[in-house]
Amino acid sequence: MLIEVKNIIDKIKTEISSLKEKLSYEPKLVSLVVEPDESTKSYLNSQKRNAKKYGINLEIIESSDLIDDLRKYNEDDSTDAIFVARPLKKGFTELDIAQYINPEKDVEGVSLYNIGSMFYEKELFVPCTADAVVKIIEDTTDVKGKNIVILGRSTTVGKPAALMLQRHGRDATVTVTHTKTKNLKEIAKSADILVAAIGKANFVDRTFVRNGMIVIDVGINVVDGMIVGDVDKGVSEICQLTPVPGGVGSVTTAILMRNVFRAAINKKGDL
Ligand SMILES: NC(=O)c1ccc[n+]([C@@H]2O[C@H](COP(=O)([O-])OP(=O)(O)OC[C@H]3O[C@@H](n4cnc5c(N)ncnc54)[C@H](OP(=O)(O)O)[C@@H]3O)[C@@H](O)[C@H]2O)c1
Repeated sequence: MLIEVKNIIDKIKTEISSLKEKLSYEPKLVSLVVEPDESTKSYLNSQKRNAKKYGINLEIIESSDLIDDLRKYNEDDSTDAIFVARPLKKGFTELDIAQYINPEKDVEGVSLYNIGSMFYEKELFVPCTADAVVKIIEDTTDVKGKNIVILGRSTTVGKPAALMLQRHGRDATVTVTHTKTKNLKEIAKSADILVAAIGKANFVDRTFVRNGMIVIDVGINVVDGMIVGDVDKGVSEICQLTPVPGGVGSVTTAILMRNVFRAAINKKGDL
């Protein structure tokens, strides 16, 4: 069975509408991109469509020096929000962005300040994909006391999702796995909820799951020109599974757009 995310997106749209009422202008999002490849270009096209749909003034800047540009737009009063496109090129790392981006404009929730706040269970800007994973799980089941296994420990998905799911109030018991994990299938099978965020097309098949599990597929992989997840579609015959495309990715985009409005309103001290 496939998990519907339409309700979640509708709720985020409602939140955006009420945030919009507090703003008298179109908020500005600057997307910095370094040497975009085809998949980045395609992602930015979808960001353009969404920005238009939600009423956001989007400026895409092809950056030759990411740190200089971060400094520039951090200070620019007309810029409410900053996004940095992946994959990063020219020797820039996630840590560079985390260190340099202005936390108040950090709509992806990757700055040291925002990650640190999440550690102390304060969530204003948290990594959007992890936020989407949490929202989908909470919409599907009661998280409290559930065993959640996350495949993947990246800074943008696995690690923040683990922190958010185990925090007080959500109270899940979380296991995070990676390439050196032994007995991966057994650990995956022991879960009530499995989150796959590894970037390997169709890696999780029916041998990783039990009947009735909830499976969240974060993966976005291109195979023969088609987008496929980290989870084989056959898993949906025995589990509740998020679709790819149209699952985690769609919720992530809506959250990013919502965060642009949050940043603009937060700047006025109204949030
Ligand atoms: N839907 C969305 O909005 C969205 C957003 C972001 C990313 N994604 C997608 O989500 C996937 C993961 O992205 P990411 O940025 O988190 O990836 P990443 O930074 O490459 O991290 C992948 C993680 O998976 C682990 N891993 C890889 N192969 C594994 C294996 N065979 N067994 C166990 N663990 C394995 C790695 O372990 P090690 O740490 O040991 O290397 C690493 O922790 C990708 O397909 C990406 O395109 C989707």
